[in-house]
Amino acid sequence: MKKSKAPEKIGQYSVQDCIGQGSMGEIWLCHDPSLDRMLVVKRMQLALRGIEDLVQRFNREVQVLAAMNHPNIVQVYGYWMEKGQLNLSMEFINGWSLKQILDKVPKLPVWVVCSVLWDCLSALVHVHTRRFVHRDLKPGNIMVDFAGQTKLLDFGIARVENQEMTLPGTILGTAAYMSPEQVRGESTTELSDLFSLGIIAFEMLTGKHPFKEENAEKTSKNILSKNISSIDFPETVPGEIRRLVCRMLAKDPARRANSAYICLMELDTIMNGLPRDLSHPLSSWLRSVRKEIPLPASPIWKKSKPPLAWLASAAGIGLVAGFILKVVF
Ligand SMILES: Nc1ncnc2c1ncn2[C@@H]1O[C@H](COP(=O)(O)OP(=O)(O)O)[C@@H](O)[C@H]1O
Ligand SMILES: [Mg+2]
Repeated sequence: MKKSKAPEKIGQYSVQDCIGQGSMGEIWLCHDPSLDRMLVVKRMQLALRGIEDLVQRFNREVQVLAAMNHPNIVQVYGYWMEKGQLNLSMEFINGWSLKQILDKVPKLPVWVVCSVLWDCLSALVHVHTRRFVHRDLKPGNIMVDFAGQTKLLDFGIARVENQEMTLPGTILGTAAYMSPEQVRGESTTELSDLFSLGIIAFEMLTGKHPFKEENAEKTSKNILSKNISSIDFPETVPGEIRRLVCRMLAKDPARRANSAYICLMELDTIMNGLPRDLSHPLSSWLRSVRKEIPLPASPIWKKSKPPLAWLASAAGIGLVAGFILKVVF
C-alpha cells in the first residue's frame, strides 16, 4: 500500500511518527496536548473510502472496541471524519507486537508463553461474554507492552453473534491462523478464536507454526487434516500445557476445549504449579530481551533522545569531570 505523507496534525493531535502500515491505512503515533499524553490514530486511506465493505469493517472495529472495557484489549478514545478521512483514536501501547517478538525470538520461555496466553484468554472471556468473536487472532494483532501486559487489537472483522457481515461462504481472516470451520467458509463461533489462539500458543512454545507451508492452499489443507499431538512439543514444555494446547487445536469444535473461561481456569492451575515466580515475569523477560536482541526501538525512545538532550548531558558530564580533576590535581 502506498505510504501517505505524514500530516502535521490529525484533529487536535500533533503527529509524531508512522508506527504501522495496516491493511486499510496507516497507524500514527500522536500527542494530545490538552491531556499531555501519547495516543494512536488509525486512519483509513482516502482511496479506500469508496469501498463500502472496508468502510463497514472500519465502523465495525469502532463499534466492537467501544463495547469493550478490559485491561487486555486496546482502549478506544474516539472516532471522527476529517477531510473525508475516517480516524479512530486509541490508547498507545508502548511495546512490540507478538509478530515482531517472534520474528526475532521464535521460541519463547514456557512461563512467558503462559503469561501471554493468560492475558489473551482473559481478553477473550470478555469478548465472548459480550457475544463477539474476534475472528482474526494472529501475532500481528497482539501487542505486548513493556510493563508486561498483553493486549488484543484489530477487531476489524469481529462478528456479533448471529449478525454476519459477510455472505455465507465468504472467508475473512488470515489463512495461517484460521480454524477448520473458517477455512471451510462455515460460520465462526467463540471456539474458532480458541483454535487460532492454540496455533499462536504452539508457535510460541515450539518456534514453528504448526500448519504453515509455502502457500495458503497447502496451509489450509494442513489446518483441515494435520493433527497435533503431545509429541510435537519440545521436552521442556510441561505435559499439562501440551494437553491444553492440543485441546484448543482439536479440528472438530465439538471436541475442542469448550470455552475461553475453562482454558483460563486450567491455565491458572497449571501456572500455579510452575516452579518460577510468575508475579511480573513478562516485563522482566522483555527487559532482558531488550538488552540482547535488536528489536525495533519504541517510537517513544526514538523521540525521547533528541540530539540537543545528548549534547546537554555530554556537556554536563564534561563540566563535572573538569571540576573533579581540578579539585584532585
Ligand atoms: N494502539 C496501538 N499502539 C501501538 N501500536 C499499534 C496500535 N495499534 C496498532 N499498532 C501497530 O500497527 C500494526 C497494525 O495495526 P492493526 O490494528 O492490526 O491494523 P490492520 O487492521 O491494518 O491490520 C500493529 O501490528 C501494531 O504494530
Ligand atoms: Mg492487524
